[in-house]
Amino acid sequence: MPDAVVVTEDLKKYFPSRNGPVKAVDGVNLEVFPGEIFGFLGPNGAGKTTTLRILTTLVKADSGAATIAGFDVLREPGDVRRNIGYVGQAGGADRPATGRENLILQGRLYDMTLQQAKERAAELIAALDLTEFADRIAHTYSGGQLRRLDVALGIMHRPKVLFLDEPTTGLDPQNRANLWIQIGKLRDMGVTVFLTTHYLEEADTLSDRLAIMDHGKIVAEGTPTELKKLVAGDTISVGLMDDRKNAAIAALLAQKPYVRDFTVDDCHLRIVVEEGSKVMPELLRLFDQESIEVATITLAVPTLDDVFLKQTGRTLRDTESAGGEQG
Ligand SMILES: Nc1ncnc2c1ncn2[C@@H]1O[C@H](COP(=O)(O)OP(=O)(O)O)[C@@H](O)[C@H]1O
Ligand SMILES: [Mg+2]
Repeated sequence: MPDAVVVTEDLKKYFPSRNGPVKAVDGVNLEVFPGEIFGFLGPNGAGKTTTLRILTTLVKADSGAATIAGFDVLREPGDVRRNIGYVGQAGGADRPATGRENLILQGRLYDMTLQQAKERAAELIAALDLTEFADRIAHTYSGGQLRRLDVALGIMHRPKVLFLDEPTTGLDPQNRANLWIQIGKLRDMGVTVFLTTHYLEEADTLSDRLAIMDHGKIVAEGTPTELKKLVAGDTISVGLMDDRKNAAIAALLAQKPYVRDFTVDDCHLRIVVEEGSKVMPELLRLFDQESIEVATITLAVPTLDDVFLKQTGRTLRDTESAGGEQG
């Protein structure tokens, strides 16, 4: 395994408040490796932005340590900044200039010559599909176009790590999917990406590895597949035509080695199994043999929300629909 490009050790940041300290970051340990897309998933207020702001030298941790590309965020902030790109929740494009001009200016701020900046801008405009709007004034851009420009701005100076804070918040599903493609391309360019999100699908789709954060702490960490394996198994839901055979069904299911758990309730069966796609045809054959009439059958595989539920007792969808505080 190569050396981690982001390392944190017991990072803490508390904010004072009238009701006692808010433990925004409460002992975070993590490692991000070169070339991976690392996701930080958690509800609003979990501490994602504060962690990112510590790593990007914008906020000082109360205690603990963090290094980026081997440089200490506290003692070597200049070296850290040269090695990172950061796209905050608000974005950083300068609206009265064109996308291309924004990129060239960014390059100049990082000490590129005008020629180098122009070349790099052209390269990124092509690579990230900005050609269509690159020479328009940025204040005419759609939300999705602005985010794509922000991402390009973030990697203009070829940073080792790009930090993206909630890159797709506020975008419609189509623009979100489009930005996912652009972020995927960063992986191909060899940029390490550290992104935060409160969207389950985003963390699942984009992350090579992710950490789930809640109340300032990491509650689970791994690849999306590893994390989903923490959850009990797949769930098969069966709607029955009638409930006359429920007792017989319960007796049948209890005998089957592949059934981990089940409930029988009126005309509804809920069956937990290891591998739903293998068990489903077998169950259908069994019901057919026993003349049990099935109205509907669906398979649900675990999601990251099930992982969040298992680790915290709440669901991310709940915290999302409840609004939550905005960080
Ligand atoms: N500057 C600040 N002053 C006081 N409290 C803050 C400050 N920044 C963040 N917090 C609090 O810290 C917690 C974590 O916030 P944040 O890191 O923004 O979470 P997230 O990005 O996961 O939504 C929240 O309870 C938030 O209200
Ligand atoms: Mg945030």
